[in-house]
Amino acid sequence: MDKPSRKTGARTVRFVLSLLLVAGVTVALENGLALTPPMGWVSWERYRCNVDCDIEPDNCISENLYMKMADLLVSEGYKDKGYEYVNIDDCWMEKQRDANGTLVADRERFPHGIKWLADYVHNLGLKLGIYEDFGTFTCGGYPGSKFYLQKDAETFAAWGVDMLKLDGCYSDISDMDYGYPAMSFFMNQTGRPMLYSCSWPAYVVFSGQIPDYKKIASYCNIWRNYADIQDSWDSVKGIIEFYGNDTGNFSLVAGPGNFNDPDMIIVGDYGLSYDQQRTQMAMWAIMASPLLMSIDLRNVKPETKALLQNDNVIRVNQDAHGIQGHRIVKQGPFEVWMKPMSVDAKGGAFAFLNLNDGGGPMQVSMNLQDLGLTQAEGYNVTEGFTGQFIGVLKPHDLINASVDPSGVWFGIAYFDC
Ligand code: GLA
Repeated sequence: MDKPSRKTGARTVRFVLSLLLVAGVTVALENGLALTPPMGWVSWERYRCNVDCDIEPDNCISENLYMKMADLLVSEGYKDKGYEYVNIDDCWMEKQRDANGTLVADRERFPHGIKWLADYVHNLGLKLGIYEDFGTFTCGGYPGSKFYLQKDAETFAAWGVDMLKLDGCYSDISDMDYGYPAMSFFMNQTGRPMLYSCSWPAYVVFSGQIPDYKKIASYCNIWRNYADIQDSWDSVKGIIEFYGNDTGNFSLVAGPGNFNDPDMIIVGDYGLSYDQQRTQMAMWAIMASPLLMSIDLRNVKPETKALLQNDNVIRVNQDAHGIQGHRIVKQGPFEVWMKPMSVDAKGGAFAFLNLNDGGGPMQVSMNLQDLGLTQAEGYNVTEGFTGQFIGVLKPHDLINASVDPSGVWFGIAYFDC
């Protein structure tokens, strides 16, 4: 197939979109997905672009890796807790499209192709995600979707893909305003519900602007808006700071069908202490974030697995209201975060964060009233990780907590009167 020129391609997409808008055709996302934050596993942070299967057959980006992780999601109990997506990230493709312009999975590393892998994953009751890029190339240098948005949407649908992460390397951010919506339209047109994860706002933020989050939410289910997570506490802390600052009020756009994505769960990798792992889990629950683990599921310590599968963490994260928690106190290294789990002060999850890098535990005393929990009858308060019942507390009763450095005290207040 002849490749259209860059200008013709861009003009065509713009033209098609304006025709649709004039005709009143819905371009917005209508897939009914991500009513709660998606949960699953993704290769990027842990396995990067490791394409050397000769040297590292068990750790390279290949169908074997995704099959193995899919198996473990089931056998290790993650699926039963809600982790359902197995997401391929970058570096899965051949460097060239085929003669018809269709993307091809690397023939050596994915000898059976993506459709076969999707069937494998589906047979386990799981879903398959894939990665592409809106620009000329993916961030890792593989063929991008520029000029091929429609074709790629159709290809992914035909393969049985359930989620697409569309990155934004090698593209012009001024094209994103129509290009990301165009992909949303083409995905709708396939008739296959595919969760749409857009990196669009991240590139807008990198360029120093504030994204139009409402617009983004009308086309994307989830979206990245900050730098890639790395396997370190500094990285997790930086993300928490960005989400606490909430520049552009992106937290307000979150809700069923739409979630901000602060990036992958690294609990179970190398960089976090146990306290820091608890902090990532509690904070990702409170921020109503996708829980996409990028870890080696073959090798997870029991206490780490217990955190990843903690029922209260998952319940808070998956709360049907989908409200994203906010930072409500910031006093030096001490922060308080609150996620309402109803719209009328009838419950919520909260975190006391100690962001000190040294010293001993911080002693905290705070009442529910200051967390916005004002029902006079009181609340059943539980420590989130252990489920330990603290008591029925009235709005002015104090919660006393000891919070380790780089640690969290994670509480849940339920109103059941
Ligand atoms: C970007 C994304 C990452 C990952 C890589 C792959 O950096 O933000 O999450 O997908 O590209 O190259």
